[in-house]
Amino acid sequence: MPKPKILISRRIPEEALARLKPHFQIEHYNKPTAIPRKLLLSRIKDKDGLLCILTEKVNEELLAAAPRLKAVATYSVGFDHVDVPACTRRGVIVTNTPGVLTETTADFAWTLLMAAARRVVEGDRFMRAGKYVGWDPMMMLGTDVHGKTLGIVGFGRIGQAVARRAQGFGMKVLYYDAQRIFPEVERQFGAAFRELGDLLRESDFVSLHCVLDQSTHHLIDERAFALMKRSAYLINAARGPIVDERALVKALKSGRIRGAGLDVYEAEPKMAAGLAKLPNVVLAPHLASASLETRLKMGLMAAQGLIDALIERKRPEHAVNPDVLEKAAA
Ligand code: GLV
Repeated sequence: MPKPKILISRRIPEEALARLKPHFQIEHYNKPTAIPRKLLLSRIKDKDGLLCILTEKVNEELLAAAPRLKAVATYSVGFDHVDVPACTRRGVIVTNTPGVLTETTADFAWTLLMAAARRVVEGDRFMRAGKYVGWDPMMMLGTDVHGKTLGIVGFGRIGQAVARRAQGFGMKVLYYDAQRIFPEVERQFGAAFRELGDLLRESDFVSLHCVLDQSTHHLIDERAFALMKRSAYLINAARGPIVDERALVKALKSGRIRGAGLDVYEAEPKMAAGLAKLPNVVLAPHLASASLETRLKMGLMAAQGLIDALIERKRPEHAVNPDVLEKAAA
């Protein structure tokens, strides 16, 4: 039996590649930039599997170009770039990489929060520019983090990991989620439920950890900013389109909120006009899961998804549409 063919659309850790090599004929777009769409559509034609990242839209167009495709493993926990119902209709199993990046992502949301509140990136630029002439009681004053109120929007694995860290800072933690969690779990995290409007009104820091779907697109818009405290900060290490980025620029410029820390953008890799000029925002290039350890675990997990689906022919542990296999077996 010839080995199944897979396409890997981006450079990945050697160890993950080594895990795949014995099982598959591999075509690898081994680059640090996105595979051109046209090339992706032509290379996917004869492939049984695809290991992709979140810059590749796995939609009807791609599926129509891939008549042999049976499995898509995305090297990410988020799968808003994948049309899962379309994959299910065509019998394509989709896997993602949950769990392994939870703590790393929570660390990074905190990195953004601290950096924005205590103006550390501004301070770094200041030092490098040789502007520091000595200690000044009124220079670059930030905002205390300890003892403040943190509002977490989306209280899944990552939101909860962010809440746990807040306990060490003696913060009051509020959360909003479409689904309220059990009271004993709320107690465990020291977190109280609020409707979104109340959370926005009461929080000193609002950190986003919900998925992107129709219900969360532009969840944070001009009206939401109008509810926030003027002294508040917005942190987004989830997905860019959850925030209306133009409204955010306006809010930061006008002092409607005090600051922001962003890891994701509405139209990545682009940013809304004016955002990069603002001093009161910390900007990162989608780094939340970017530790050596975690990116390796994600790579191995994505590889295992393809091995399970195409070689072992069993349900991958992290299938987002396992019903595909049940339908095929019926
Ligand atoms: C990164 O954004 C991910 O979804 O893993």
